[in-house]
Amino acid sequence: MTKPQQFSPPRGTCFMSIIAIIGNKGGVGKTTLAINLATLLSEQAATCLLDADPQGSILHWAAMVDNANMPAVFDATANVGNAVAQYRDDYQHILIDCPPQLQSEQTQAALASADVVVIPVLPSPLDLWATVAVNEGIASARESNPDLKALLVINQMEPSTKLSKLIRDVIQELGIPAATTTLNRRVVYRASVLQGKSVSQMGRTGAFAADEMRNLLAEILAI
Ligand SMILES: Nc1ncnc2c1ncn2[C@@H]1O[C@H](COP(=O)(O)OP(=O)(O)OP(=O)(O)O)[C@@H](O)[C@H]1O
Ligand SMILES: [Mg+2]
Repeated sequence: MTKPQQFSPPRGTCFMSIIAIIGNKGGVGKTTLAINLATLLSEQAATCLLDADPQGSILHWAAMVDNANMPAVFDATANVGNAVAQYRDDYQHILIDCPPQLQSEQTQAALASADVVVIPVLPSPLDLWATVAVNEGIASARESNPDLKALLVINQMEPSTKLSKLIRDVIQELGIPAATTTLNRRVVYRASVLQGKSVSQMGRTGAFAADEMRNLLAEILAI
């Protein structure tokens, strides 16, 4: 097991982050990342998770949660910009789970408000090529949000070195930096949601997943 990196900010520093999980494809892991990253952040600092997807997956998950150590969850589908403005003074970290359409008003508002956008992608060239539109969306969001940072995350990786190398080669052509950490395909990502938990709350079954998620979070906070 690789040693998870440290992701907590230095003591005494004022550190705030707005992280949007976006994409132009369904089922790539946006909600999974949002739940797990927000839960890890909530162990360190006041964190809220905004459900900006009309599918309401985060709200469904939150209804199953039976644990005090969880991020606060709010429905932000009606107006993401207003929700960010409303909660930014009360929470150190805000995560936004977006619908699978780049052009949706929720994703556009998230692009306008975020410090960082995280884009999960499946390890397939077809999925990666679909992110070209995301790159264009980020470029146009930077006209009004010039400091916006972006990070691709390969999710549901299969243990294949050859595939991993091929995928890295395709990613290089896309123009969006990719996280060094990849998330493997693991049953615990599904099982944890069913139990209203994050992978870091699944004990030994979730240990590998929790480690990769901590490593990813450290990368996101460092960009
Ligand atoms: N690394 C992983 N290993 C195994 N299963 C995963 C992994 N990541 C996500 N999943 C599963 O894949 C499915 C789709 O994930 P998720 O709902 O997070 O995607 P999404 O991008 O939010 O989808 P949508 O666009 O419909 O909102 C879920 O069943 C989830 O549990
Ligand atoms: Mg989702």
